[in-house]
Amino acid sequence: MQLLDGKKLSQIIQERVYSQVKELKSKTGSVPGLAVILVGHDPASAAYVNMKKKACDKVGFYSVTHEMPEDISQDAIENTIKMMNTNPNIDGILIQLPLPPQIETTKILELVEPSKDVDGFHPFNVGRLTTGLDGFVPCTPLGVMELLKEYNIDVKGKNCVVVGASNIVGKPMAALLLNANATVEICHIFTDDLKKHTLNADILLVGVGVINLIKEDMVKDGVIIIDIGINRAENGTLVGDVDFDNVSKKCSYITPVPGGVGPMTIAMLLSNTLKAAQINADKRA
Ligand code: GUN
Repeated sequence: MQLLDGKKLSQIIQERVYSQVKELKSKTGSVPGLAVILVGHDPASAAYVNMKKKACDKVGFYSVTHEMPEDISQDAIENTIKMMNTNPNIDGILIQLPLPPQIETTKILELVEPSKDVDGFHPFNVGRLTTGLDGFVPCTPLGVMELLKEYNIDVKGKNCVVVGASNIVGKPMAALLLNANATVEICHIFTDDLKKHTLNADILLVGVGVINLIKEDMVKDGVIIIDIGINRAENGTLVGDVDFDNVSKKCSYITPVPGGVGPMTIAMLLSNTLKAAQINADKRA
């Protein structure tokens, strides 16, 4: 069994981004800019935003976080997005999800200028991904593809089983795998007999947020496991969706939690924002 080390690869990518930021700055005089909108006080969202901000600082990006109260109006968020859409110092806009129930999330995501949609959540970019065209791709599944590539794992022709069908992870994950010529199954909360499907997996990718969802009798020998879950166990430690201690014995490769997919998400946010800045600089040149 070999660990897929997302922490190490994330550091390598961040160093690459840092040197490309320096290059961009010497050519254009400006650095990539990321605007983050954080609504309310959910501790997990605040922690994610804090990590994203720290990563931006480390690679030399300009970043600004708009913190808004839980009872904010739709109009107030929309006005902030409109401002960011036209602000030349901002190349990427990220709206930390979930938003509170009074907010129409779809409308908010649709308002982000697609060329600044570094999370890849705008229907324009979702459409480009499903048709296999270049665009912005959601950071977590993009990070998984980079991690697989780093370890020379070719998904072409492999049975890839994605557990979880969210817009942020499961659906774009399945689209990327399909674009890379994998055979893809998507399982979700209504799937009957999950084990029947997971036993088929050459590569099993799980992102649902349920501790120990995947147990050793649910996978075949030699399986590759990508654990996209991040959960807080009763003892306070971070764990994924896979019963790591027992399942890892049967794996050829597996991602640890923490240190697997999580750091890759941050690295892809940086590389998507750099890409947006490079496109904007080319447009201005
Ligand atoms: N909430 C949970 N995951 C994500 C993510 O990748 N991006 C954003 N914007 N919000 C999230």
